[in-house]
Amino acid sequence: MMRTHTCGELRKSAVGTRVCLCGWADTVRDHGGLIFIDLRDRYGLTQVIFDPADSREAWDVAQSTRGEYVIRIEGVVEARPDNMVNTKLPTGEIEVRSSVIEVLNKSKTPPFPLDDEQAAKVSEDLRLTYRYMDLRRQRMLGNLVLRHKLLQAARNYLDALHFTEVETPILTKSTPEGARDYLVPSRVMPGTFYALPQAPQQYKQLLMVSGLDRYFQVARCFRDEDLRADRQPEFTQIDLEMSFITPEDIYGVIDGLLAAMMKTAGLGELALPIPRMTYADAMSRFGSDKPDLRFGMELTDLSELFKGTQFKVFGGVLEKGGVVKAINAKGLAAVPPRAIDDWTAMVKEAGLGGLAYIRVQDDGAWKSPIVKFFSDAEKAGLQEKLQIQNGDLILFAADKPAVVHVALGRLRLLSGAMAGAIPQNKFAFTWVTDFPLFEKNDEGQLQSMHHPFTAPRPQDLPLLETEPLKVCAQAYDIVLNGVELGGGSIRIHDPDTQASLFKVLGFPPNEIEERFGHLIRAFSFGAPPHGGLAIGADRLVMLLAGCESIRDVIAFPKTQKAMDMLMNAPAKVDARQLRDIHIQSVVAEPEGEKK
Ligand code: AMO
Ligand code: AMP
Repeated sequence: MMRTHTCGELRKSAVGTRVCLCGWADTVRDHGGLIFIDLRDRYGLTQVIFDPADSREAWDVAQSTRGEYVIRIEGVVEARPDNMVNTKLPTGEIEVRSSVIEVLNKSKTPPFPLDDEQAAKVSEDLRLTYRYMDLRRQRMLGNLVLRHKLLQAARNYLDALHFTEVETPILTKSTPEGARDYLVPSRVMPGTFYALPQAPQQYKQLLMVSGLDRYFQVARCFRDEDLRADRQPEFTQIDLEMSFITPEDIYGVIDGLLAAMMKTAGLGELALPIPRMTYADAMSRFGSDKPDLRFGMELTDLSELFKGTQFKVFGGVLEKGGVVKAINAKGLAAVPPRAIDDWTAMVKEAGLGGLAYIRVQDDGAWKSPIVKFFSDAEKAGLQEKLQIQNGDLILFAADKPAVVHVALGRLRLLSGAMAGAIPQNKFAFTWVTDFPLFEKNDEGQLQSMHHPFTAPRPQDLPLLETEPLKVCAQAYDIVLNGVELGGGSIRIHDPDTQASLFKVLGFPPNEIEERFGHLIRAFSFGAPPHGGLAIGADRLVMLLAGCESIRDVIAFPKTQKAMDMLMNAPAKVDARQLRDIHIQSVVAEPEGEKK
């Protein structure tokens, strides 16, 4: 037998038992003749002790053992003397006295220390290059195990509700989720390309046309977009779709799913139903469509108060139909001037003319470049509306609502973090509902805010062609702690509405046929009303595991440049492979590398 127990298993009840353990030498310590090896595997750590009096031969091998050697030991479990008990280790009450050790494999010196604290200090590129070493850390292995358990819980929960998991193609056609596609050239049909799916959106709708009724998939999605801490070029969704439903059915299923996953993560009972808020409210109160509800500092509307004000900046904005809003960054009166300068630069980038502020000093005096322009009534109004106390910092923004909301929304997050006002162990979920159906892109063209299969609210249908920007969608996002966890909608299920939506979006008829003909055709064969949602699995696991980056919960993630450092991908391929798929590179080869 290779091993009788794992390294996380032995307790005091096993004292006297003869055991075999396998694992990695975490540390090797020489204590005046006795050698101690902490033996580590996925399950934990067990202290093994070698005494030359027991076996000189084993002691010699133990002494020459280095960190990360793979070893197998045989020995007898002993209780540790009371003063040697390690209360931090589950196996800390025992140790194994060994007289047989076998080196199963040696190891080079690891490229970086494998304890969490030290590893956090090395460059992430190095950790990713040696990902298999990085994953040896208990914390990282723990993340993978938690991810597995959460997805398992999701599968069990959905299975019990009659959802069927269906795998949809990876080699497919471009589907518009708003990012750039990854393309794969066809060898058999020269000049044509598959696209990797940005989401299984159209397939899951087609499965509703098939009558599957309830679909889900732990689905791989691919998006060629600029990466951030919570974005990867390939990521995983818990994707689902249902027939004959209203939005209430979706809320119910997802509320239950998230509660089941919270429980699995050991985070207790989630109070249901998850609260809901309209998009308009979220923007107006929190300056974000993914509000972080773990703390207050809400945006306060001061437009009424400053109507007819002497302060030209606010007065001018209000005359043009804009708004004046502020946040009370509680307790931040003493932020260094540099922070205000940085914030001013940031809001200017967001389109604001400047950043007005009041520092409310400890003696109650208001220190501010603008207060001198305020009337007594305006000051009293501010005091009351913003609940001003000594030590507060008030930050004002005046402009069009959209600009003010974005600027104050960002300032709220920055000042909340700076003031330590955001509790770390809190999970604040919210639904955000009634999104606009369309938004304008940078070129001023209409585009779908979600995707072009999203149904408008029935009452807004008459506005579709006349005032499209006023149309609300039957779309909803689920948000946790300021992160967009998932999004979905009720879909359009009749071919006419779908065709008119494509028209409003300005797709020419031939393009509609080419890109979406299959879907419109399918809808003409009796598509049931349907809707669904997709949760970003990586983001959910990241938040439930208490990680800062989704890369920490993905086994082999990519860098900011979408590189796989371990496999060294993307990489060049040889000319022959390119010829086979009818591709010619226009990137000049450096001299000498030409084939
Ligand atoms: P959406 O595009 O909103 O909707 O995506 C759903 C969720 O997927 C996660 N996500 C990502 N996670 C990591 N890296 C990325 N690059 C990335 N992009 C998105 C987010 C997001 O909320 N087909 C629709 C769903 C539907 O309508 O049913 C869709 O994909 O957590
Ligand atoms: P100014 O008259 O432009 O010097 O601005 C007076 C004060 O108002 C300065 O503190 C500016 O930073 C601030 N300010 C200017 N424009 C805005 C705006 N759109 N919103 C909020 N504060 C502003």
